[in-house]
Amino acid sequence: MHGDGETELAESTVGSGTELAESTVGSGTELAESTVGSGTELAESTIDGRTELAGSTVPTEWWADAVVYQVYVRSFADSDADGVGDLAGVRSRLGYLELLGVDALWLSPVYPSPGVDHGYDVSDPRDIDPLFGTLDDFDGLVADARRHGLRVIVDIVPNHTSDQHEWFRAAISAAPGSPERARYHFRSGDTPPNNWQSVFGGPAWSRVAPSDEWYLHLFSPGQPDLNWANPEVREDLEKTLRFWCDRGVDGVRIDVAHGMAKPDGLPDDRRQPGWTVLSEDTPDPRWDADDVHEVHRAIRSVLDRYPHRMAIGEVIVRDDERWAAYLRPDELHLAFHFGLLTSPFDAVELRTVIDGTLAAAGDVPAVWTIANHDNPRPATRYGSLDRARAMALVMLALPGTAYLYNGEELGLPDVDLPESVRVDPGGRDGCRVPMPWEGPGPGYGFTAGTPWLPLPASYGDLTAADQLEDPASTLSLYRYALELRKTHPAFRGREVEWFGAPAGCLAFRRVGSTLVCALNASERPVPLPPGDVLLTSGPLTDCGDLPANTAAWLA
Ligand code: NOJ
Repeated sequence: MHGDGETELAESTVGSGTELAESTVGSGTELAESTVGSGTELAESTIDGRTELAGSTVPTEWWADAVVYQVYVRSFADSDADGVGDLAGVRSRLGYLELLGVDALWLSPVYPSPGVDHGYDVSDPRDIDPLFGTLDDFDGLVADARRHGLRVIVDIVPNHTSDQHEWFRAAISAAPGSPERARYHFRSGDTPPNNWQSVFGGPAWSRVAPSDEWYLHLFSPGQPDLNWANPEVREDLEKTLRFWCDRGVDGVRIDVAHGMAKPDGLPDDRRQPGWTVLSEDTPDPRWDADDVHEVHRAIRSVLDRYPHRMAIGEVIVRDDERWAAYLRPDELHLAFHFGLLTSPFDAVELRTVIDGTLAAAGDVPAVWTIANHDNPRPATRYGSLDRARAMALVMLALPGTAYLYNGEELGLPDVDLPESVRVDPGGRDGCRVPMPWEGPGPGYGFTAGTPWLPLPASYGDLTAADQLEDPASTLSLYRYALELRKTHPAFRGREVEWFGAPAGCLAFRRVGSTLVCALNASERPVPLPPGDVLLTSGPLTDCGDLPANTAAWLA
């Protein structure tokens, strides 16, 4: 039944793709026709993984302007009715991702894991958890993705392992001071070795038994931090990187890229309330120790042996100067900068964040994202779907690369789940509810079984199948936007120039091109800047003004 649904969806999407193009008569039809042509040229100009950007003479690696789609595997598509998404499910939906128009997918961790932090507690980084499939399924997914013109990025977790990793199991059966314990941070004493708190709350130290040593875990107790001063740890990561590169992945996303190195002596966190030195300038000793850059150089040296592979890091540090250090030529290729993801829907703050991100990234492509599996979804965070749609156009107009999170393109809101079904130690379940694909609940095409988190009835009105049929849907907006971004000649230029805009609004142009993006974050309609309208996130007013909570692309 699940299979039938897929076929129907796949067939109907081809149909609706055409209808979509036809139904946008006016500027839309011209758009569709003109972009299809240039899309083919773009594909043909891709040589050896290097993409010649339209109108640019500078050859750029594929990741410089790619749109990457984050697949939170357990919530994406379930092929075997156990209620949890899996690799075969992802394979079955690759046609959808191609139709959406993204360039690559980033898979959340699919390695063997007890699932305390849903895969970010890895017990074997070089295998696939049976919950998600097998290594053969993974290889099949990579091969299928190629056929759909999609690249694949995997998630690597070097800061910590699971407490079920063979290394940690060996460590707890070994004596204090043993080589087994030296792969982690074990310390003796009657009280925790310092005052560090874990990200999920509570002390960052636990004991394996009441009279035993303490071990460090910056996340849950099931995620012991590795000791990166130990060369074995580095060798093991290098082996993991080679393992996945040899299987054909195009890139790696480095989890907690600011975390691996720990400062000598593990000093107390003096930012804690009640401690004597309370300065905002006091660094958080848990993150961003200088030695972390050695780890990134090690990662880069492996990737450099494979052509056209990239590493993107989750880098959260206290200022842009320290952030930019992760992008030195022998470190990460890209780094998430979460300014846009955390900025309120406010023109002044958004402009500040965009300028800051571009300045910090310098010559390296900026990475833009408004959603991921750790944060409330845009339709919830910004307060309305209209605003989320407007922000999608802002993000996709900016120079650099953009990362989408599955379900963002459907405009899904967070789900207010009852405590009884919540499972995440970080309280993030609401943004991880599975995708509604088609048909009736409770599975809505995600599963023929019982979904691991319940999909609300409201998700039934937001299915991918319904949205593909509706030219005004959020999915159609993303499809138009991605097609334009990929094929319209106005999408070039690496800098942004700001126009004067009414209070509460912003308008920018990509320098060197004609693309203008205008956002009305005020409360009343405003006139549009000059230019032909390419796309708007919602209808214009009867007199052609840009309504509140709406964005437009013009050229
Ligand atoms: C960042 C990941 O995005 C998050 O989901 C996870 O809980 C932590 N790193 C710990 O691995």
